[in-house]
Amino acid sequence: MFHLRAAGVSLVLDTRGTASVLHWGPDLGDIDLSAPAFVPAVPPSSIDVPLRLSLLPSLAEGWSGRPAIENGHGFRTAEAHHQDQTLVVRSASPDATQEVVTELELTPQGVLRVRHRLTNRGDHEIVLPSLDVLLPIPAEASELLDFTGLWSHERSPQRAPLRHGIWSRESRHGRPGHDDAFLMVAGEPGFGFRRGRVWAVHLAWSGDKRIWAERSALGPSVLGAGELLAPGEIRLAPGGSYETPWLVAVFSGSGLDGLSDRLHPWIRATSPLSLPRPVVLNTWEAVYFHHDLTVLGQLADAAAEVGVERFVLDDGWFTGRRDDRRALGDWSVDDTVWPDGLHPLISRVHARGMEFGLWVEPEMISPDSRLARDHPDWILDGGAGPTWRWQRTLDLTRAYDHLLERLSALLSEYPIAFLKWDHNRDLLTPGVAHRQTRALYRLLAALKDAFPHVEIESCASGGARIDLGILPLVDRFWTSDTNDPLDRQSIQRWTGILVPPEYLGGHLGDGVAHVTGRTSALGFRLATALFGSAGIEWNLTRASPQEKADIAAWIAEHKRLRPLLHSGRVVRADSPDPAHLVHGVIAPDRAHAVFALVTLGTPAAALPPPIRFPGLDPDRSYTVRPIGVPPRTMQDAPPPWLAAGEVTLPGRFLSEVGLPAPLLTPEQALLLELA
Ligand code: DGJ
Repeated sequence: MFHLRAAGVSLVLDTRGTASVLHWGPDLGDIDLSAPAFVPAVPPSSIDVPLRLSLLPSLAEGWSGRPAIENGHGFRTAEAHHQDQTLVVRSASPDATQEVVTELELTPQGVLRVRHRLTNRGDHEIVLPSLDVLLPIPAEASELLDFTGLWSHERSPQRAPLRHGIWSRESRHGRPGHDDAFLMVAGEPGFGFRRGRVWAVHLAWSGDKRIWAERSALGPSVLGAGELLAPGEIRLAPGGSYETPWLVAVFSGSGLDGLSDRLHPWIRATSPLSLPRPVVLNTWEAVYFHHDLTVLGQLADAAAEVGVERFVLDDGWFTGRRDDRRALGDWSVDDTVWPDGLHPLISRVHARGMEFGLWVEPEMISPDSRLARDHPDWILDGGAGPTWRWQRTLDLTRAYDHLLERLSALLSEYPIAFLKWDHNRDLLTPGVAHRQTRALYRLLAALKDAFPHVEIESCASGGARIDLGILPLVDRFWTSDTNDPLDRQSIQRWTGILVPPEYLGGHLGDGVAHVTGRTSALGFRLATALFGSAGIEWNLTRASPQEKADIAAWIAEHKRLRPLLHSGRVVRADSPDPAHLVHGVIAPDRAHAVFALVTLGTPAAALPPPIRFPGLDPDRSYTVRPIGVPPRTMQDAPPPWLAAGEVTLPGRFLSEVGLPAPLLTPEQALLLELA
């Protein structure tokens, strides 16, 4: 028996017979593991011994739910040992031809990571149908939350009761996709951001996958996930191995914020970023494909004037790329548009004190490209099947050396600090997602190795590839293609359960959002883009002097606040009115915080709910004062504390009672600083 404990979480593993997780959840303290505390009764009409959910559950042990290996045999534990906070369990199939080594690591932050490695110890090839990780959850975890979405509308939450049966989400996009389930959360009915016990899993993988919750009349409820393997995709010769992606599993005794309380510090510790995060200007919505040195030079000047630190040249710079119908694969600078290469633009960007970044989409190929004409055999589906954004996918295992050479040449010739790495279509080729994803990871790792100073952003038509498999190899996620603040409020809120704000690109867009056509006030757009890895996606040369002054002030404020925003604890209040959101970030010592009160729509009542500030130090006094562009209101008189400009109150009061909210009109945000 093993008992791992960290940060309020316990994991109890019984390795006698067939290894089983007996408990994953709240800390059990010092418990006598020899007591028969976890052994259930034997019900009628069932196997004649108490049912145990093993690490590799199968029919052979009486488990009739989804197994860890389709058609798998009953594995027996051969050996188990303990290395610090990691348990390593070796199991073998009855005929000893298959060996599985399972690692279970409980991190200091209380995040549980589990993965299996299966090795063929026999004399014949094995075709592996699946290998998944399953964990038990208690019966009380009977309400589910996971996510779906669309282009420009990623991570849209969906909730449902967990009934008998399987709620299983599959991604067959060759990337997680805009509709990625992202997290499978099971909790006490009615759990919220700050309340309820919840258990959640995420699969750290950027290819095809499945993630599910299952409840049955016969055994414990489970959460599970694994790579979605096509028939015959994984063939193991004698001696060959397959390793699953990590399943990242998190328990919280205090709602969804409790998940972030573990995940954010763990991600920050294991995939650290270089801080401070530079303020970006990305050229996409400013100029699209209309690349012109004069225009881009003026844009760079305008960006520098307001305080931008990194200028990113998006799609349209390479040979023949005048629109989205051609040229992907031809990764050399278009000398008809850039007769002196990118040097003049980069020099101008550097002269203005900014870094230079460049967009690429290495995994793709346009049928109308030199690469496609030279190497038609590198196209994944051989040119069959529909194009998507007029493009096809490269077989990375074939094009690997070419891509490494091309990208290395660009990074060697030009002082590039940042690559925006895009991926704008589904693979739509069966049976290749595994090798494609592994090749992508290898390519990213090779580039990171050769050019350690170059940061990489994972972008996939917006946020279709945000996962913890790719995270150790990148420095930023492009959260969504929409810069419409109304949609962004929701996308950022939900993506931020898993990913800390500084990893999530959030840009200030045009007054009329390019994706939705919705008009938004500048203050709302600025407040929405303040918290993450901030940037601008707007042709600033067309902004008015007042707009530029407001943007410059916002960037200055972001620079002042980013040490807090990018290291603090993210909190979200539960609100009785879905049109009325409160979220914030609190410094680790709780001496300083920034909150936003956001109105998404028309409030449900004449008097909105008070602004409650969760997570403050109850015994500390805070002065609350508004910052940023004042929001539009529809009140005859503001609450007196706001009219006075500030108020000082104990953290206990601010968290438990809160402050009377001003009556904001729809799509407004009030920023508040507490110190
Ligand atoms: C999709 C990305 O998400 C956008 O930001 C932009 O880079 C375009 N691709 C360029 O083609």
